[in-house]
Amino acid sequence: MYLFNEISGIRGNHDEAWMALAGDSIMDLVAAKRPDIRVIGEYQAFVDWAGFRFSLHHPDGGQAYAISYKLQKLVESFTAENLPDFVSMGHFHQKEYVTIRNVECFQPGCFEAQTPYEIRKNLHPVIGGWVVEAIRMKKGIRIIAEFVKYTPKEKDW
Ligand SMILES: [Fe+2]
Repeated sequence: MYLFNEISGIRGNHDEAWMALAGDSIMDLVAAKRPDIRVIGEYQAFVDWAGFRFSLHHPDGGQAYAISYKLQKLVESFTAENLPDFVSMGHFHQKEYVTIRNVECFQPGCFEAQTPYEIRKNLHPVIGGWVVEAIRMKKGIRIIAEFVKYTPKEKDW
């Protein structure tokens, strides 16, 4: 078993907005205080960790009608030699686990209650996160994926 001792993350549109407004990225400020967190990119990055290749992705634009659509389009855009084992795609504040082109794909959920913007857009965030255990075997990967869902705190943004 391999336990997390380091967290890799990427910046997204909120980091970009805060950088423009206040001159700092929240992700960078957190990473400066936490030696176990490292920022490895902006909007997209690949990272090799514990024998697996991960793609972290922060897309742009609004959520599609079908929750899995944007993940499908992302994985379709990878060349065959660049396919990761796992994809995590944030931004939409949704929860999803689906296998596309043999890639294990996640939308990670979020830790923010429904905002006024989301109310106007009729969007409903899923509050929580995945706990994933993956073990490479001789003829495949054993995956246990568990989603821990929390009750949102009202106006926690
Ligand atoms: Fe975002």
